[in-house]
Amino acid sequence: MEKAIPEVTLNDGTTLPVTGLGTYGLWGNAGANAVSSGINAGYRLIDTAYNYENEGAVGEGIKRSGISREELWVTSKLPGRYHTYDKAMVAIQESLYRSNLDYFDLYVIHWPLPNQDLYVEAWQALIDAQKWGLVRSIGVSNFLPEHLERIIQETGVTPSLNQVELHPFFNQEEQRRVHAEHGIQTQSWSPLARAADILSNETVRKIAETHNKTVPQVVLRWQYQIGSVSIPRSTSPQRQRENLAIFDFELSEAEMADIAKLTRPDGRLFGMDPATHEEF
Ligand SMILES: NC(=O)c1ccc[n+]([C@@H]2O[C@H](COP(=O)([O-])OP(=O)(O)OC[C@H]3O[C@@H](n4cnc5c(N)ncnc54)[C@H](OP(=O)(O)O)[C@@H]3O)[C@@H](O)[C@H]2O)c1
Repeated sequence: MEKAIPEVTLNDGTTLPVTGLGTYGLWGNAGANAVSSGINAGYRLIDTAYNYENEGAVGEGIKRSGISREELWVTSKLPGRYHTYDKAMVAIQESLYRSNLDYFDLYVIHWPLPNQDLYVEAWQALIDAQKWGLVRSIGVSNFLPEHLERIIQETGVTPSLNQVELHPFFNQEEQRRVHAEHGIQTQSWSPLARAADILSNETVRKIAETHNKTVPQVVLRWQYQIGSVSIPRSTSPQRQRENLAIFDFELSEAEMADIAKLTRPDGRLFGMDPATHEEF
């Protein structure tokens, strides 16, 4: 049977659905219900992080969904305060306990924190965690090209994926080019630009009308067509289903080009530049 959500193959041979459910801010009982309804709507990839303090709710949502673990992909992220090798190793195991899982499908370094300068050590821990079977695939998040080059050069291991801020207002064209050169899969955080200004954007609204789709559906379809794995968050079962209904239409080259024109050098939503942003 054809899968409802297409998958990409990562450079280590593992696969990933092309869209998943973001979970930032989904906590407690409501959070677990949102994760469970997302899975029942069709999501198979769930994105959490140690620092979201919701790995427990995500694990509970998985349990409530009734879908078997093998059918799911779960991602979590290493916080800045645990970048030394030993702390990273313990944090990964703690993440697993919190989410009540035996392994993660993907674990990434959340931010590089270049001023702290420990991300190579953290990367070495992820490499070993993968060897030990704690995680299937290892990647990074918010790594600029220079951070990617450095971990590849110093460890010989290329991340399978880099999760970066990516939406029509900040489309990361140059960063995506670097990823393609290294065979690194791009993944988009805040893929809907938090569903604020984008909802009333005239360009996207017109394209949506043409296809009889919503603005979020056009944006997520655009993410798919640029080859990035998106992880939109929604607490609403209806919007979760809406965000998955993106595989029955196609944006033309001209429409893709019009959306590409919306990008701005200062288009980051919260000005979080990985060269300076520190989050522990
Ligand atoms: N690696 C990192 O540093 C990093 C940073 C930020 C985020 N992330 C990850 O990326 C995920 C997604 O990013 P995000 O949560 O920042 O933003 P987002 O997915 O771009 O937007 C989420 C917002 O959009 C609304 N929304 C979703 N679908 C909608 C629809 N069809 N129509 C109207 N509104 C809709 C949601 O509200 P409702 O819930 O009411 O639908 C929510 O307020 C996060 O949850 C997290 O997992 C990672």
